[in-house]
Amino acid sequence: MAARIISGTEVAAQIREELKKETAELKEKNNIVPGLVTILVGKNPASISYVTAKQKAAHELGFYSIQDDQPDDITEDSLLKLVEKYNKDPRIHGILVQLPLPKHIDEKKVLNAIDPDKDVDCFHPVNVGRLMIGGDEVRFLPCTPAGIQELIVRAGFETSGAEVVVVGRSNIVGKPIANIMLQKGRGANSTVTVVHTGTKNLEFHCKRADILIVAAGVPHLVKPEWIKPGACVIDVGVNRVGERISEKTGRPVPILKGDVDFDAAKEIAGAITPVPGGVGPMTITMLMKNTVKSAKISAGIK
Ligand code: GUN
Repeated sequence: MAARIISGTEVAAQIREELKKETAELKEKNNIVPGLVTILVGKNPASISYVTAKQKAAHELGFYSIQDDQPDDITEDSLLKLVEKYNKDPRIHGILVQLPLPKHIDEKKVLNAIDPDKDVDCFHPVNVGRLMIGGDEVRFLPCTPAGIQELIVRAGFETSGAEVVVVGRSNIVGKPIANIMLQKGRGANSTVTVVHTGTKNLEFHCKRADILIVAAGVPHLVKPEWIKPGACVIDVGVNRVGERISEKTGRPVPILKGDVDFDAAKEIAGAITPVPGGVGPMTITMLMKNTVKSAKISAGIK
């Protein structure tokens, strides 16, 4: 039987509706408007399009939002001062410095300068540590892993006691999603295995997975015969494998492939995310969720 397709586009739209209501209520009852600043250094086209999408989402939800564009020759010191300015600004509850930064700037230094209470990306070591401890310590969840967990839960999969296999050990996806899924509580409590480039037998581990999360950045790495029948497959890979001309605009658009061979895998899996339209739309939505949470915490609202 063909798998159910988990539409990140639809789930993200649902969550954004919920956040829009919550934002309007916060404004009406508590006179608080969630504030987000996105800082973009230089003119990397992919970064411009990510930041534009983040600002558009913030705007649509009714946030106070600032797009702060800086030239690519900004000094590290000036960028650190800029972060400090927003750390002190009470209208701002979330600060996002778009990555990558130019080579002359130490990315780690800049990310570590963001006030952990405004770190809506959840990249600061304090928030990474809080996530590792779990429970009440957790303030923000990193956006892509949080989106993955939400997709699994909303698709109706039981995570407690499930064998979760994560392919990839990046700091942005692999390590944090493994950490989230092994915590006690709703949408987690799983038995987690992380496989990576040093793993001897990828196929063996993937075949055991009730929930398979693939974030390797290798097009079609996971073969359909590696998938357990009925498994939930979350494909985080967005690999550009070429270009085609859009019929609508006549302009070149990238051809994207996931880390899983979707067409073949959907005949075996119980549910699967497409690429694009799976995990991607969830990342920005979870950034918005973190910003609302930060605004509530700053006002002492649970
Ligand atoms: N560049 C690509 N993805 C991200 C992200 O999630 N956060 C930031 N800050 N930069 C990025």
